[in-house]
Amino acid sequence: MKNTMLKTMKNTCTVVTVVLGLGISSSAFAAASSQVVWDKATRDLIKFADSEKGKQTAEVCSSCHGKDGTATLAENFPSLSGQPAGATYKQLMDYKDNTRGHGIMQNFATTLSRQDMANLAVYYSQQSLPTAKTGKTVTETAIRLARKGDGDRLLPPCATCHGDKGEGATVDVPALAGQNPSYFVTIMRTFKSGTRANDIYNRMRIIASALSDQEINELADYYASLGTK
Ligand code: HEC
Ligand code: HEC
Repeated sequence: MKNTMLKTMKNTCTVVTVVLGLGISSSAFAAASSQVVWDKATRDLIKFADSEKGKQTAEVCSSCHGKDGTATLAENFPSLSGQPAGATYKQLMDYKDNTRGHGIMQNFATTLSRQDMANLAVYYSQQSLPTAKTGKTVTETAIRLARKGDGDRLLPPCATCHGDKGEGATVDVPALAGQNPSYFVTIMRTFKSGTRANDIYNRMRIIASALSDQEINELADYYASLGTK
């Protein structure tokens, strides 16, 4: 079942690419969604990274991402604590080479070496996911989309990739549990509009485009209500 869904997603991507390819010149495809390749060298860089050094570097990040990576200061700053190391590493690399645009983060990422990014990523992955946010309304719609998806719209369950508890997955699937809802909503809208386009195979752009704004809000609250209890 899960595999069929994923195959459908991949086939959809291929069809979209082929159809677009007929009408648009190849220059439209010049920019890859990400330069990160999960080869042995990259995996080893993360595997043997130094989380103590990462912790030291993370001090400069704490004013926005919080101590230990749980961002409590502002709702539009993402929490990094408990994220799979590959997910954090990939996002930093994408900021650095401008495949994910954001002024502040680009400034920080350009100062970091690949080794620094791996150290930071491993450090954050060793911290607990953010505490579950209380007082959120969890709707049936959000639970259904997260756990069952919607066959009519070819939507796989979010849990297929992000995990049953929103804990994320190896290599590069971010955790969503305990994430700040307003960051979640903003970033889903940027996938929907295509402003954020660093997701390999368009996976999140396709999914976000199929969701209404109301569903995105409800999913943000659902995932915020997960996290460390
Ligand atoms: C001045 C505030 C600020 C500082 C300091 C800062 N960040 Fe960020 N960071 C942000 C904001 C805002 C975003 C969301 C940007 C976006 O929408 O793409 C972000 C996004 C990220 C993301 C992507 C998270 C995700 O869930 O996709 C990572 C990883 C990250 N920052 C790591 C770092 C690291 C490592 C440092 C320190 C070297 C740092 N940041 C310093 C504000 C900051
Ligand atoms: C086919 C696998 C897959 C499915 C299904 C999926 N996602 Fe994702 N999602 C990803 C990947 C991979 C990324 C990271 C993209 C990148 O590399 O920038 C991501 C990123 C995200 C982000 C950004 C996280 C951050 O910290 O910036 C959000 C929010 C998100 N997904 C929500 C959802 C929701 C809600 C659903 C269900 C409606 C869903 N995803 C279904 C694979 C998936």
